[in-house]
Amino acid sequence: MADDKPQNAAQEPASAPPLKTAPLRGDISRRGMFSVLGASWAAFAAASAAGGGAMLRFLMPNVLYEPPQEFKAGPPSEFAVGAVDERFKAAYGVWIVREPGGFYALSTVCTHLGCTPNWLQADEKFKCPCHGSGFVRSGVNVEGPAPRPLERYKITLAEDGQIQIDKNTKFQEEKGQWSLDGAYLPYA
Ligand code: FES
Repeated sequence: MADDKPQNAAQEPASAPPLKTAPLRGDISRRGMFSVLGASWAAFAAASAAGGGAMLRFLMPNVLYEPPQEFKAGPPSEFAVGAVDERFKAAYGVWIVREPGGFYALSTVCTHLGCTPNWLQADEKFKCPCHGSGFVRSGVNVEGPAPRPLERYKITLAEDGQIQIDKNTKFQEEKGQWSLDGAYLPYA
């Protein structure tokens, strides 16, 4: 019996599995290009941000604003006789001392290396926490490495009756300046 099937039908291949195709070279290049571009933009953005910060710092530099060199401290009646007034220490770096006969204004800068001493009422002295220098109420150094007394600032009575301090004018005891006008404000 003759086989009716056409010869070529028997030779038809079964359905072939899909071929695994390797990614096209163009796809890889595109993806790589996009990631390179992304990284470049990120670097550019970071550099711009850093540059912008530097520019801002240039336009608005860090400036230390010092407190005013002159200020009014209020009327003499607000100061207790015999007391070291510490109200102006933090803001202006000044102690105002009232004695029975008048006032003087002491610098709060230690004459050793510039630390800020503390007024110790019980010991009746200014004591520097850095290296132990001590100053009596007048400002004269009595212990530790400080080579000279605390400086005094100009102190006067303003027209409105308030005590006025001028830190632009300093008086140094070792130069004989504590006896000059302005180093002491007589006030009964
Ligand atoms: S800074 Fe005051 S004792 Fe040294």
